[in-house]
Amino acid sequence: MEITSAEFVISNSRADMCPKGNLPEYAFIGRSNVGKSSLINMLTKNPKLAMTSSTPGKTLLINHFLINKEWYLVDLPGYGYAQRGKKMMEKIQKLIEYYVLEREQMTCLFVLVDSRLEPQKIDLEFIQWLGENGIPFAIIFTKADKQSAGKTKMNVAHYLDRLKEEWEELPPYFISSSENRTGRKEILDYIDSVNRQLKEAATV
Ligand code: GTP
Ligand code: MG
Repeated sequence: MEITSAEFVISNSRADMCPKGNLPEYAFIGRSNVGKSSLINMLTKNPKLAMTSSTPGKTLLINHFLINKEWYLVDLPGYGYAQRGKKMMEKIQKLIEYYVLEREQMTCLFVLVDSRLEPQKIDLEFIQWLGENGIPFAIIFTKADKQSAGKTKMNVAHYLDRLKEEWEELPPYFISSSENRTGRKEILDYIDSVNRQLKEAATV
């Protein structure tokens, strides 16, 4: 699939104020600074679409980007950034929880994890929580350009082994780099395949 149009639509501090209608949404979640906003820019080939920063805690709202006038990419605030202060952390946690659990248009949640790191407790707990709530998700291992391909492969295998301890079936997963566009085609093809399934299901 190619992206022919990508437009910023709206930022919201409340999940119940997100766009109406029933276009499917693909949302990006993960720890602050893992590269959610950068990945949206990489997929859309528009470095200015989502705001990024080398300082964690840049995205604080739910941001909707309309793609090809048919579906949305959704940029969410990161979790687990304690420097924001307790009140802000709680607010963001509620926002994420509400979006993930209540947003009917949410079709797949991409959980981003840093490909360089050992499995982090906070991510494993979040993934566990998704499982308990039956949320469809996939994993994206980010920042692959920051180490050798061999190291990424090893870390991903290690991560999947860790997930196998709790999961009978592994989720779809992707390796990405927003620097050199690794994973772009695979992620967009996956979204395309899910969109097609939705369309087929709607016509039966
Ligand atoms: P919050 O909005 O704070 O939750 O962060 P985020 O997950 O949206 O991260 P963001 O995309 O703002 O990226 C954080 C930093 O990591 C920025 O300095 C990016 O340039 C850098 N970064 C993101 N993805 C990559 C990548 O694939 N490779 C490299 N080398 N740097 C990346
Ligand atoms: Mg961001």
